[in-house]
Amino acid sequence: MCGIVGYTGSRMAYPVVVKGLKRLEYRGYDSAGVAIQGESGPIRVYKKQGKVADLEESVLGQDLQGGTAIGHTRWATHGAPSDRNAHPHRSASGKLAMIHNGIIENYHQLKQELVSKGYAFHSDTDTEVLLYFIEEIQRNNHCSLEEALCVALKRVSGAYVVLLLNDEEPGTIIAARKGSPLVIGVGQHEHFLGSDASPMLEYTKQVVYVNDYELAIVRPDELILKNLGNEILTPYVQQLDLELAAIEKGGFDHFMLKEIFEQPQTIYDSLRGRMDVVTVSITLSGMESCKAELIAANRIVIVACGTSWHAGLVAEYIFEELARINVEVEYASEFRYRNPVIHPGDVIIAISQSGETADTLVAIERAKQQGAIILGVVNVVGSSIARISHAGCYTHAGPEIGVASTKAFTAQLAVLSLMAIQLGYWRETISTERKKQLLEELYLIPEKAQSILSQSESIRNLASRYESARDFLYLGRGYNFPVALEGALKLKEISYIHAEGYPAAEMKHGPIALVDDQLPVVFVATRDAYQEKVVSNMQEIKARKGRVVSVITEGDEWARSLSEASIEIPACDEVIAPLLSVIPLQLLAYYIGVAKGLDVDKPRNLAKSVTVE
Ligand code: G6P
Repeated sequence: MCGIVGYTGSRMAYPVVVKGLKRLEYRGYDSAGVAIQGESGPIRVYKKQGKVADLEESVLGQDLQGGTAIGHTRWATHGAPSDRNAHPHRSASGKLAMIHNGIIENYHQLKQELVSKGYAFHSDTDTEVLLYFIEEIQRNNHCSLEEALCVALKRVSGAYVVLLLNDEEPGTIIAARKGSPLVIGVGQHEHFLGSDASPMLEYTKQVVYVNDYELAIVRPDELILKNLGNEILTPYVQQLDLELAAIEKGGFDHFMLKEIFEQPQTIYDSLRGRMDVVTVSITLSGMESCKAELIAANRIVIVACGTSWHAGLVAEYIFEELARINVEVEYASEFRYRNPVIHPGDVIIAISQSGETADTLVAIERAKQQGAIILGVVNVVGSSIARISHAGCYTHAGPEIGVASTKAFTAQLAVLSLMAIQLGYWRETISTERKKQLLEELYLIPEKAQSILSQSESIRNLASRYESARDFLYLGRGYNFPVALEGALKLKEISYIHAEGYPAAEMKHGPIALVDDQLPVVFVATRDAYQEKVVSNMQEIKARKGRVVSVITEGDEWARSLSEASIEIPACDEVIAPLLSVIPLQLLAYYIGVAKGLDVDKPRNLAKSVTVE
């Protein structure tokens, strides 16, 4: 959570930083601020509750000159969203300015120490406490800011990326990281810093990913990387494989809609070069590198959060069916604290769009220490989860900006399906014939996804009939049960309508009490082994006057006749049906959110990358 940006070089820093902050608003958007430094004179700090656009408005007429700046967009943890709690914060002397992404867990203890020494604070944040602490160390030890930072960070527990400006060192940004992401862009006589590479993409593609417990001293012509023990490290400069167009709206009203519409391409990209229908082969180098362990494994544990957790649930059905291996799907946040039983040789699959979700990251760190093999299924290349995994398969969905995950989910499903088919083949639980059949089905998915998108206008009309509903129920069975959960999650996130997802049969054990003539019940009822049973459940809802909305297979007149509204999708093998059946639900949530006039790309209280636990 929270986005950080920095710039030092020959350009005017403020516009670079503000543009970068807008790209990072997916990480939080309840307040924003900048600190600007010229060649001389004190650092100027401007901050404002609200989005980056509110900050821009509030600084009109202010002095924004200067070649060095740091900026922050916040997702509140300590203290309500307000001007006062917005970053950057100033040190007690006013000479330092700092921004922070993460949580200082022992901030209360540090604060008490500082209060007993007579310090008074101007915000409720852990960030201000850390900054005062750094300055106090510098004052007592008569040392450089960089040395004081190292000492302070050794006392800190929690996660952080901090960027610091110092009145006495114009042009220098000092940065440090543990647990939250930090990328440095290397330009000609200039450097950029960001929570991800998007703020620097239009200026440079040379980047350095900073690791935990590293510190960077960044000047226009210099980048010094050190560990907290003051040893100099050689920065590893990588070339970014990302185009600017990938992070812009490209004519769509919202990133979410653009990303939903990109799915035929992104599903294709996640499969491209990895499967060959003619030779009936799958090439996933991440899997190859731990083939023996995968074949021998007794179980697979999938850890993830949010939408990625739903992808994990779909994967549970697919792996168990095709590879006949026991799969457990865990919320990363529960798994990490539960003292789970892990046997050496267990395979853990971590699924994450961002690759930075704190709970998922810590869960796999713990499992790795206990001897598990970690496979990452991650979208963001070079992210923390990707780097700590033993091996992995990138999902290749491209940057996902809309806070509600859409194309990342289908890319995860595509990659997980390939992995399950390959493992089933290796473990000889599926035949070459079945493998071929599934690859042929996967090959057709992008085209079928396109045909669902061509119905977007009618889904929009359908959405307008339900925008005033107070609650929704989503039901599905088998492979489509996690799709029902995902459909309900999308609606909650985007429209703020209460929605619950349930296994269709389980609805008789409680949720059916909610059914009346006002309640839309969305059935994911595509043709599969369970369909007859799901249709019986539809009848049960209809008999109680519930408003049945259904996602069905093309030409299914029976299911259609039981629904007051339905969306048809092309037929496909049930194992990979979720890749298609989720798309109408994404569109339904999107159009209901838009009809209600909500900011679907930045829903209230949410953040895309949850880097606090
Ligand atoms: C947040 C996002 C969700 C995402 C979840 C897990 O809640 O809003 O869209 O599914 O985090 O994130 P990850 O990046 O690990 O997939």
